[in-house]
Amino acid sequence: MNVVILAAGQGKRMRSDLPKVLHRLAGRPLLDHVLAAARAIGAKKICVVYGHGGEQVPTALPADDVVWVKQSPQQGTGHAVLQALPHLDPSGPTLVLCGDVPLIRTETLNRLIAQAADGTLALLTVELADPSGYGRIVRNADGAILRIVEEKDADDAERALHEVNTGILVAPTGRLARWLPALTSRNAQGEYYLTDIVGLAVAEGTPVSSAQPEAEWEAAGVNSRAQLAALERIYQGRVAERLMEQGVGLADPARIDLRGELHCGRDVFIDINCLFEGRVELGDGVVIGANCVIRDCSIAAGSRIHAYSHLDAASVGQNCSVGPYARLRPGTVLEREVHIGNFVEVKNSHIADYSKANHLSYVGDSEVGRRVNIGAGTITCNYDGVNKHRTVIEDDAFIGSDTQLVAPVTVGRGATLGAGTTLTGNAPPEALTVSRTKQVTIPGWKRPVKKGA
Ligand code: UD1
Ligand code: CA
Repeated sequence: MNVVILAAGQGKRMRSDLPKVLHRLAGRPLLDHVLAAARAIGAKKICVVYGHGGEQVPTALPADDVVWVKQSPQQGTGHAVLQALPHLDPSGPTLVLCGDVPLIRTETLNRLIAQAADGTLALLTVELADPSGYGRIVRNADGAILRIVEEKDADDAERALHEVNTGILVAPTGRLARWLPALTSRNAQGEYYLTDIVGLAVAEGTPVSSAQPEAEWEAAGVNSRAQLAALERIYQGRVAERLMEQGVGLADPARIDLRGELHCGRDVFIDINCLFEGRVELGDGVVIGANCVIRDCSIAAGSRIHAYSHLDAASVGQNCSVGPYARLRPGTVLEREVHIGNFVEVKNSHIADYSKANHLSYVGDSEVGRRVNIGAGTITCNYDGVNKHRTVIEDDAFIGSDTQLVAPVTVGRGATLGAGTTLTGNAPPEALTVSRTKQVTIPGWKRPVKKGA
């Protein structure tokens, strides 16, 4: 099976400098969704016809199984497929997909392919309440397909037809090689229409059949930003349905966004307005509070991420509590039952079991032992303006509030740092270390008074 994806068009109505097929749906370029559809039906080699936007398109989606074919200038869909022809194996059929129709399902494509057995030309068509903009399927009185007429070339009777061409078809490749060079551009748009192969097939007695998708949105193309946003909602709605079928609790299926993969254990609950990106794993019983953004993380069983937290490339162990308003940056590893509270930022740090940083802290490039308490307002000063340095805090240490740990520095096992300490040298184990000017009281001191008062 040959696959050709048409992706050379400009997408004028997007009003964008970015080629249309690189606009993103669920975080991935539209064309990437279509490539995935082609791979899902088992295509080993995929021809992508590109053109508008130049090398941006192949550069954005490098892949070993793609043959990039440049179409320049872009003279229509028929001209586009003609450019791919030299790369196609004439012994098998050719499936034509559109780079701007991202939600086509594998089952539908397989049904269309089944229709195309024995040299039949198979078209994917759909009945639309509002067919405007699409090419119409013209049938004879017996219901046999005669041709496709583009809207701009259609007469009133043809325009009144509701069955439209989705742009997706399967054609016998040998015949395609005959039909494509025979196309003319004598039409309203002065283009070589791929759709005109239908009339040629009928004229020479090649059977033409059609298949329909189960859902209208499978065949929906993206021509404008409004259509892209509408397809995004459809995609996300399906994601939410699938999650709930798997047993995930969603406070509101209309308010979750997935731009990647989400793997959930049993009895996970996700509150409203959460965004998941990259690959995220949530263990059994994990609860995600409202308005969290979670990218490339694994969160183990029993942990709770409270509202408004932002987690990026972090690993959270079992029964941890994170947030509200916490930020875990890349390289953060929390072991079991760690508590990270509000306005705490952790980066590239390992925090062992039962340790806590509950309020207003920055922990960066650190190794934190077990049962450590990090007081409010503690900051690791890990950057000297040139290099990053590590802070080590051993088991059972207690870090008083408003402490600065000027790395590289080590706080020994069981050590206590007094509040307000600026630690510039190591703190020995089991002792109190404090750096602070002694408190003084000046008796009888008077506040200055305003002059002339
Ligand atoms: C096309 C069909 C129309 C169908 C509609 C479905 C033709 C002539 N018309 O119309 O029957 O109802 O799709 O969405 O085929 N492209 C190229 N090179 C070109 C022109 C287009 O690669 O020279 C690509 C575009 O990037 C796009 C696809 O082909 O992915 C369809 O092109 P577009 O201009 O959107 O065609 P429509 O006018 O929508
Ligand atoms: Ca289109």
